[in-house]
Amino acid sequence: MTENELSGLLIEHGQEHILEAYKRLDEEGKNKLSRQVERIDWSIVDMAVSEELAQKRGRLEPLSALEVPEIEKNKEQYEAQGLAAIRAGKVGAVLLAGGQGTRLGSDGPKGKYNIGITRDVFIFERLIRNLLDVTDKAGCFVPLYIMTSDKNNDETVAFFEEKNYFGYPKAFVKFFEQEMAPSVDFNGKLYMEAKDSLSLYPNGNGGWFYSMAVTGVLKDVKDRGIEWLNIFAVDNVLQRIADPVFVGATLSSGCVSGAKVVRKADPNEKVGVLCLEDGKPSIVEYYEMTDEMINSREANGDLSYNFGVILNYLFRVDKLEEIMNEKMPVHVVEKKIPYISESGGYVKPEEPNGYKFELLVLDMIHLLDNCLSFEVVRDYEFAPIKNKTGVDSVESAQALLKKNGVQL
Ligand code: UTP
Repeated sequence: MTENELSGLLIEHGQEHILEAYKRLDEEGKNKLSRQVERIDWSIVDMAVSEELAQKRGRLEPLSALEVPEIEKNKEQYEAQGLAAIRAGKVGAVLLAGGQGTRLGSDGPKGKYNIGITRDVFIFERLIRNLLDVTDKAGCFVPLYIMTSDKNNDETVAFFEEKNYFGYPKAFVKFFEQEMAPSVDFNGKLYMEAKDSLSLYPNGNGGWFYSMAVTGVLKDVKDRGIEWLNIFAVDNVLQRIADPVFVGATLSSGCVSGAKVVRKADPNEKVGVLCLEDGKPSIVEYYEMTDEMINSREANGDLSYNFGVILNYLFRVDKLEEIMNEKMPVHVVEKKIPYISESGGYVKPEEPNGYKFELLVLDMIHLLDNCLSFEVVRDYEFAPIKNKTGVDSVESAQALLKKNGVQL
C-alpha cells in the first residue's frame, strides 16, 4: 500500500492518530504498521460505533437431544462405528488454544498451566492423555491440529517440544496460527500496543476453519482423507476427544455436525443452549433467553431448553468447506485493553476501556443444516478451567479430576 493510500484509508475511517504515529516511525516501523493497517477488516472496526451491537434472533424452538439412557442402550454399536471411522483415518481433532486465558490470569498459553497438587499435571498433558485413551483403544493415532495465535504460538510449540509431546507422536501433531483482529476504544479509535504496532488480538475461536485453510493445514486434512473434525477447547480437562461413541452416534444420526451437551444444573445456569432457530440448529446464550423460555417445560417435566454446549463439536469437513466464506456474526466485546498513550507510556487499565472483536465457533452451528445434540454426564466430561478459584476454576476441575480417579 502506498503512503497516500494508507493515509486516505486512515482518514476515511477517522483514525488520524494512527497516521500521526506512522509519520514518527523509521522505514522499518512504517512498513510494519502499514502491513497491519492493510489487513484490517474495516467493516468490523466500524461496528464499534454502530448502534446495533445485539444480534437479531429468528424464531427459537427447543431441540431434543440424544440422551444418556438412549446412548447407553446403543453404546457398543456407536463405539464400534466410531472406532472403525478412526481406524479408517476419517477423524481428526482440533484443539482451540489461541485464547489468552485472561480470567485465569496466566501470562502464557493456558495449556501450560500446572493443575497438579503433588506432581506436575499440565492442562495440555491432561488433554493428550484423554486422547491417548482413545488411540490406545483404536490402535492408531488421530491427527491433532493445534490452533495457537501470534501471542502464544512459539511458547506453545516450545512447550510441546520440551515435554516430548506428552507421548503423542509428533508426526501426528500440527500447529497453525489463527487470525488477529484490532481493538478499539469506546469511540472506535484503534489502540496501539507499541509505537509501531496496533493492539492486535486473536479474533475469537470461530475462525478456526478459515485459519486452517489460509495457513495450509487444511491441505494436510484433505491429503490424509479426514472427513470429520472434532474441535474442542483447551480448558476442559475431563473431556473425551475423538470419542468413538460420539463419532458413531453422529454418523448413524446422518447429521452433518454434532455437539456434546450437558443437562443444565438449573434453569438459570449461564450456559449457551443448543436449540433450533428458524428450523436450523443454533446456540442461544443465557442472556438472550426470555423468562418464558427459561422456565418452559416439556410434558415429562424436563426443561424445554435443557442442554448447554461445552465446546466439543464434530463437523463434517466437506460441509465446513461449503460454509467457509459465509459471513459470521462478529461479537463486539468490552475488554480491558493495554495500550500506549499519546505521550508514549504503557497503560494497563483496571476497567474495560474498549472493544475486541470475536468470531465464535457456536455461530458456525447455525450455518449448518443439522446437528446431533449428544448428552454427556457433566461430572465425567465437563471440568472447564476459566478462573483460579470458585466456579469453573482450577479448584473445581481438580475436585472433578480426583472424582474420576486422576492422580494430581
Ligand atoms: P474462552 O472463551 O474461555 O477464552 O475460550 P480464553 O481466551 O481462553 O479465556 P478468557 O476469556 O480470556 O479468560 C474458549 C476456547 O476458545 C479458545 C480458547 O483457547 C479456549 O480453548 N480461543 C478463544 C481461541 O482459540 N481463540 C480465541 O481467539 C479465543
